[in-house]
Amino acid sequence: MPNQSPPTNNRLISPIERQGDEALDLSLRPKTLAEYIGQEKLKENLQITITAAKKRQETIEHVLLYGAPGLGKTTLAHVIANEIGANIRVTSGPAIEKTGDLAAILTNLEEGDILFIDEIHRLHKSVEEILYPAMEDYALDIIMGKGPSARTLRLDLPKFTIIGATTLASLLSAPLRDRFGITHHLNFYEPQDLEKIINRSAHILGIKISTEAAQEIAKRSRRTPRIANRLLKRVRDYCEVKGDGTISLEDALAAFKLLEVDVLGLDLIDRRILQTIIDKFQGGPVGLNTLAAATGEEADTIENVYEPYLMQLGFLDRSARGRLVTIRAYQHLGLKKLETKQLI
Ligand code: ADE
Repeated sequence: MPNQSPPTNNRLISPIERQGDEALDLSLRPKTLAEYIGQEKLKENLQITITAAKKRQETIEHVLLYGAPGLGKTTLAHVIANEIGANIRVTSGPAIEKTGDLAAILTNLEEGDILFIDEIHRLHKSVEEILYPAMEDYALDIIMGKGPSARTLRLDLPKFTIIGATTLASLLSAPLRDRFGITHHLNFYEPQDLEKIINRSAHILGIKISTEAAQEIAKRSRRTPRIANRLLKRVRDYCEVKGDGTISLEDALAAFKLLEVDVLGLDLIDRRILQTIIDKFQGGPVGLNTLAAATGEEADTIENVYEPYLMQLGFLDRSARGRLVTIRAYQHLGLKKLETKQLI
């Protein structure tokens, strides 16, 4: 039986929020668009939306933010609220279990409030249907009674703005997607922007860091600010114990060696997946379930957590016949791809 890995979300390089991130995120989170690093086009568009709405003294239209975990959708929702000077209420798709839960949230909103719904694609269908008239007409339709004698009572709601966040816009049903006046995609970050984020975070945390060390952390952060901040914290720990208090390139490299995070931000499990396809399946193709059995990981976890980044790096291909490791992955692992002839 192969070794079981720790739960996915405990990985140092997981883009998904982990316990302990929250306090860190709160102190490091930019409060204004000017402080927010990266996503330049998106910021420019948002600035115009916000300025125009303020000028007209209107609420902004409902905003849908989509992009991979850890890129700053929640942060951006707080920035928007702060720039407008609005209160923000925070909830998530899975947290709203019943239509009554949403009705309670909506009836407690005040004029101009922002309601942030994370993972909005996970709303129950019945809850989602309450949202349609709320978004379109600022109204809450309450159904009284059952069967032929049922009647609808319409309650007016104050004008408010929903900011919805999801990983893929296509996960939303068309009627819900259509009710957002503004839709923005968050891109993965450029290394230079991650470097700026790391320097900003180090400054807030009161840590000194060399340019080379910040660049090294940026390189290994999978183009994701949440991972960059988490790695910075771990390298700081290393430096405080073993170093002289200023994070140098040597400290960063030694910490990464200990943490087993490589130059591209791959950890042991990423490398094990690639290595297993190479060692046991001659580089593939291998079916997902077979790969799961051979690595001791859940098929679902491989597909949704590990593969996206490996595919983004061009290390893994999905074909109709299964998963294939690419030449690039062989090169990264320092291996030569064997020709079929050599194998026989
Ligand atoms: N911390 C996390 N994401 C950030 C960003 N985009 N800009 C500034 N600081 C951040």
